[in-house]
Amino acid sequence: MYHNGIDIAAPTVAVAYHSGFGHTATLAQAVAAGAHEGGAAVNVIAVDTMTEADWDVLDNVDAMIFGSATYMGNVSAGFQAFAEQTGRRCLNGTWRDKIAAGFTNSGAKAGDKLNTLSSLAIFAAQHHMHWVNLGLGAGWNSSAGSENDLNRLGFWLGAAASTDVDANPDQVHPSDVQTCRHLGRRVAEVTRQLNIGRTVSSAASGPAASSAPAR
Ligand SMILES: Cc1cc2nc3c(=O)[nH]c(=O)nc-3n(C[C@H](O)[C@H](O)[C@H](O)COP(=O)(O)O)c2cc1C
Repeated sequence: MYHNGIDIAAPTVAVAYHSGFGHTATLAQAVAAGAHEGGAAVNVIAVDTMTEADWDVLDNVDAMIFGSATYMGNVSAGFQAFAEQTGRRCLNGTWRDKIAAGFTNSGAKAGDKLNTLSSLAIFAAQHHMHWVNLGLGAGWNSSAGSENDLNRLGFWLGAAASTDVDANPDQVHPSDVQTCRHLGRRVAEVTRQLNIGRTVSSAASGPAASSAPAR
């Protein structure tokens, strides 16, 4: 959807993640690649090295996809430190009505990482963001399935991966990489739909609004 030659529906997405040993970082790149395929302009941000420019990106994007390694059955201390730095933004509603989604990675196949996804979703809810789920059925859950299925670990709230604790970052399971890629693509598509809906709704609400994109 174009206005004055600008694609006003084009989504902007940030992938904001913490990774101690590089596995979740690999998945962050896969999420970003998917969002890019979905037509988004994407920034990938490591939340333990935030700069002023990074905060500006987060304040201005349409969607954020949060990622954290699972440590002690929850988000890592590195991610939580970032979350706690957003308290003022939370109070001010700076990120209100942006899109959010999440992904995580643990050593064990289960590893209590649903709790990590739940924490990410609650973090988004506290910011009044709109949570996008994974949008895939469970893989590897029948005799016809295999560990190479998309969503091989069977999560719905977000994308979840399992990486051997002694693996290198480039040894993250290909199915988990593709599942994260799917999440990025899905978030870009949902964000595009919301951008169009907001523009149309703004245009329908009155002549003054019809001359400007509502972003
Ligand atoms: C302090 C610590 C706590 C961990 N807790 C869990 C856990 O609760 N469940 C699990 O399955 N793996 C756990 N792991 C393993 C990590 O989730 C796993 O190594 C993961 O791949 C690390 O991701 P990263 O490379 O992005 O940091 C833990 C690792 C560390 C260092």
